[in-house]
Amino acid sequence: MPEQPRDVPEPTLFTWEFAADPYPAYAWLREHAPVRRTTLPSGVEAWLVTRYADARQALADPRLSKNPQTHSESAHARGKVGIPGEQRADLMTHLLNIDPPDHTRLRRLVSKAFTPRRVAAFAPRVRELTDQLIDAFEERGEADLIHEFAFPLPIYAICDLLGVPREDQDDFRDWAGSMIRHGGGPRGGVARAVKRIRAYLAELIHRKRETLGAEGADEDLISGLIRASDHGEHLTENEAAAMAFILLFAGFETTVNLIGNGMYALLRHPVQRARLQRALEEGDERLLAAGVEELLRYDGPVEIATWRFATEPLTIGGERIAEGEPVLVVLAAADRDPERFRDPDVLDLTRTDNQHLGYGHGIHYCLGAPLARLEAQTAIGTLLRRLPDIRLAVDSDDLRWRGGLIMRGLRTLPVTWSS
Ligand code: HEM
Repeated sequence: MPEQPRDVPEPTLFTWEFAADPYPAYAWLREHAPVRRTTLPSGVEAWLVTRYADARQALADPRLSKNPQTHSESAHARGKVGIPGEQRADLMTHLLNIDPPDHTRLRRLVSKAFTPRRVAAFAPRVRELTDQLIDAFEERGEADLIHEFAFPLPIYAICDLLGVPREDQDDFRDWAGSMIRHGGGPRGGVARAVKRIRAYLAELIHRKRETLGAEGADEDLISGLIRASDHGEHLTENEAAAMAFILLFAGFETTVNLIGNGMYALLRHPVQRARLQRALEEGDERLLAAGVEELLRYDGPVEIATWRFATEPLTIGGERIAEGEPVLVVLAAADRDPERFRDPDVLDLTRTDNQHLGYGHGIHYCLGAPLARLEAQTAIGTLLRRLPDIRLAVDSDDLRWRGGLIMRGLRTLPVTWSS
């Protein structure tokens, strides 16, 4: 068993060392305190769930609400969760903050617009974007893969998909940049960026609504959202704005980190990486698809799933959780549970039976998973094909991780290759 011996002291969570490698601490929790009440850096008390079986069950438990406003006991946490500032109420009606029946209605409506078919049709554009980004630095022989590649790709992709005109997309890149830099905390930079995005989306939705029905006008996702109806029900303008916002917000930093963490893991595992490159050279894409799933399990972008609150007293893994208490499901810990995955700390791109929780589970399962897969497979596959001897340009110890609670990702990833 890779678990630590019993006399290892309880690790301190949420330090910089923890951010660099949280997995030993999660192994300790899984073994000794699989459902543990802890104080978060924000001062909020929350339960951490770290075993795979408990995590999977909790993610699908209807007694755990996603709405931080339903329960008075969660008032303390409420102020520290989600979007800061006055936009909170407005953007609150998005999928990750609501329960059935509202969630069921909104998810059904958005699923009509955000279809796997729409995503599949988008593949050539993702390839084109990927190639353009690599063209810009290929000759130089070095780049920061986060800032020059992993960061712009998803923002341009989601803007295109939503129907944000090309001339406005660099504004989005700036707003997204200030959201990611400030790590989602309740600070001025994020509040300002959210305000700008909110105002921009309201105006864009208004414009799209006016041109709806014109020839070719329903090609983009925002128009699809406006058009989507279910038993005569439509999204309100505010719901459409909140939906566009959550698609941007949920689909952006996650994808940056999937490409960043994924490439970082490959660069540190030369045997696995060589095997993938060989398969790609032979035109075999299957290992790429399986490999991206394994990269998600091994070091995925969403370390902890978004907040959940107990609507009634309940028991998880033998621990009593009181009504209103916040529950955080630690996906990164569950996906390294030796009870579920053989040799969980080993990166094995050929792993089968890989039902990881990287995209969540249950009714809030990632809506954007087909797009995320498309982007990550295109990005990682193209990098390995076009820059076959790509390698880290710095020591791993010199890399810094962003310190947020929910997301896990590198600040920079300097790489080099022979040009
Ligand atoms: C939900 C992961 C990309 C849109 C989720 C959840 C996870 C997740 C774990 C569930 C959170 C919870 O239950 O608390 C990821 C990962 C991605 C990714 C690892 C990798 C790149 C995307 C993309 C989009 C997207 C590209 C859209 C453009 C959403 C939405 C939800 C969601 C809308 C909420 C679904 C609901 O509540 O019904 N994602 N995501 N995600 N994701 Fe993703």
